[in-house]
Amino acid sequence: MSVTLSKLKKMHQAKQKIVCLTAYDASFAHWVSAAGVEVILVGDSLGMVVQGHATTLPVTLDEMVYHTQMVQRGNEQAWCIADLPFMSDTTIEQTMQSAARLMKEGGANMVKLEGGVRVLQSVSALSALGIPVCGHLGLLPQSVEKYGYKVQGKDSVSAKQLVNEAVALQDSGAEMLVLECVPAELAREITDLLNIPVIGIGSGKNTSGQVLVLNDMLGITVGKSPKFSKNFMLQSTSIQDALAHYVSEVKAEIFPSDTHVIA
Ligand code: KIV
Ligand code: NA
Repeated sequence: MSVTLSKLKKMHQAKQKIVCLTAYDASFAHWVSAAGVEVILVGDSLGMVVQGHATTLPVTLDEMVYHTQMVQRGNEQAWCIADLPFMSDTTIEQTMQSAARLMKEGGANMVKLEGGVRVLQSVSALSALGIPVCGHLGLLPQSVEKYGYKVQGKDSVSAKQLVNEAVALQDSGAEMLVLECVPAELAREITDLLNIPVIGIGSGKNTSGQVLVLNDMLGITVGKSPKFSKNFMLQSTSIQDALAHYVSEVKAEIFPSDTHVIA
């Protein structure tokens, strides 16, 4: 049985942790979904961990479609979210066309786009068409040239803005929200306030679920992995075993621990 949005909503209501992981190709998508990961994210992080770029900015919509197709050939049962890459969502019209390609050609179940106020109208338009949307607030890798890789929402003004944007995304029809590198207390507040599942990365343990970049949790990221991540291979005998540990540690609220928070 494939994971549906209604199953994810039920898990959220029952306060069961939702486990999410990125994947970029068919074999990893197979093993990630076989491990019981409920949500696979075809993240534009592939620009860095697969393509070797310094940021996610060079990733094209064609490449996102291609990787989503590969993932969906290997994916057994997970809900599949595909990222709208940098500059593929600059207007409502362009966002609709881009989302249509990720769904029709790529086979994605949901699309994710970065930002708050900037994307609200596009979120409403997608939602009205029946396209499930995931928001993404906090650290926004597509805006790294402007803001850098920094924890967001540290002072009370930016915290309040994050809360407002999270509520506005939900009100505009977003069905899920990723919070990246937000202080744990703020992530908890937003998770408690919203009715939709909040998936955290580097945002503490009090969100509805967790996501990591696959290459980070397998210890194969070249150079530095983020401090909030964890190399699950160190306690495992195989990739399949590492994926199983990740699933069980998120479910049991062992990961993330206090050492896996950057805020
Ligand atoms: O591209 C990606 O992998 C992401 C996650 C870090 C949430 O957007
Ligand atoms: Na992304």
